[in-house]
Amino acid sequence: MSGINYSEKIPNNVNLSGDRTLQRALEHWQPNYLQWWQEMGPEGAQSFDVYLRTAVSVQPDGWAHFDYVKMPEYRWGIFLAPQDGQRKIHFGEQLGRDAWQEAPGEHRANLRRIIVTQGDTEPASVEQQRHLGLTAPSLYDLRNLFQVNVEEGRHLWAMVYLLHRYFGRDGREEADALLQRNSGDQDSPRILGAFNEKTPDWLAFYMFTYFTDRDGKFQLSALSESGFDPLARTTKFMLTEEAHHMFVGESGVSRVLQRTCQVMNELKTEDPAVLRAAGVIDLPTIQRYLNFHYSVTIDLFGADQSSNAAIFYSSGLKGRYEEGKRSDDHQLKNDTYRVLEVADGKLREIEVPMLNALNEVLRDDFIRDSMAGVGRWNRVMEKSGVAFRLQVPHKAFNRKIGALAGIRVAPDGTVLSEDQWRANQDSWLPTEGDRAFVASLMGRVAEPGKFANWIAPPPIGINRQPIDFEYVRFN
Ligand SMILES: [Fe+2]
Ligand SMILES: [Fe+2]
Repeated sequence: MSGINYSEKIPNNVNLSGDRTLQRALEHWQPNYLQWWQEMGPEGAQSFDVYLRTAVSVQPDGWAHFDYVKMPEYRWGIFLAPQDGQRKIHFGEQLGRDAWQEAPGEHRANLRRIIVTQGDTEPASVEQQRHLGLTAPSLYDLRNLFQVNVEEGRHLWAMVYLLHRYFGRDGREEADALLQRNSGDQDSPRILGAFNEKTPDWLAFYMFTYFTDRDGKFQLSALSESGFDPLARTTKFMLTEEAHHMFVGESGVSRVLQRTCQVMNELKTEDPAVLRAAGVIDLPTIQRYLNFHYSVTIDLFGADQSSNAAIFYSSGLKGRYEEGKRSDDHQLKNDTYRVLEVADGKLREIEVPMLNALNEVLRDDFIRDSMAGVGRWNRVMEKSGVAFRLQVPHKAFNRKIGALAGIRVAPDGTVLSEDQWRANQDSWLPTEGDRAFVASLMGRVAEPGKFANWIAPPPIGINRQPIDFEYVRFN
């Protein structure tokens, strides 16, 4: 069952019409979702025709269906990767037993919490990005933004399906609450910190899709190992969509760097003031944005030592990144892992039981993966003959969660006094002046093939269309 049934109100490959109760519950939720989309989704863009990709099958080739769609008419639906009837739990204390096809009673509350926490991030990012369409640097970028937004909307659907199908009344209540919390809302904010931050400009958007959507990749990968089979199958399919989001981020930052380096060479200068006057974003500002998004994102992995992480793993609910490819005992009871702590004003590593450090394990996997892309960004500078290199800050820099919260650490890992931090933080994190400058560059460029002055065009278009293709029609 790989094709997706589009004749139904809610497109799906889970035979929804065979479960009338569930179908009715989801059809009841659907208008609330659409209302949320109208109120909190992309601002002023509901009537645009957008050249979007829609999944028509969960097979690898089911990905290439492109057409003009008005976003409120996007076919959000429920698509699970194909079932493997033989699947076993492959880590934790239940290792070797059949994977669960229903929510296991003893782990129900933890499982629901995991699904709600993941689900909450999906609409949050749509809310964070809702004003960006007004200042898109090109039609190509505008289309990519909207593609990310509709897919995050679908990711919400994916989690809501699990809540409705497997968690009864409290699942339905949680699904309603996912539409009631809002990013940055004083009274009912989103669950995780980074999803209450603003994404006010396109440099922030590219950094967000590079770093924060990559957190999504790692969380979803860990959940795709789950012994709860419906969660594993749902997240596996979500991961295929996540790849495009990270592409938008990586290529976006690359193009900003390329344009800045080009102007640096033309004007033969590294002076931020001169470059700003020429309408491009100076490299130190880009580094400060990177520092911010990186540090806020690594907080999303949670406390370095966490008994919840141990329970989620031991009970088979959440694995490690690429659990199936690892060659240890998948129980980890006798293993240790090194985490950081501060002692006598210095950072030092201590060994702790690995089960308690699984948040840190996932964070470190994320860090390795993010650094690879930063290396690719640096090749843009290298090719342009520019000496500046971007760096990810030390993982203790600007942390708000875990053992490193509340201490002051420089990007190079030096522990600082509060005074030292205050004297330097403006060179490490975006200042109001930086943000105001970047904001001053933002203005919608809506002519096919034209790009804002601060960003280079992409090397190729979407779906082999030319770069000057009309990716969005405003009507
Ligand atoms: Fe997502
Ligand atoms: Fe995403």
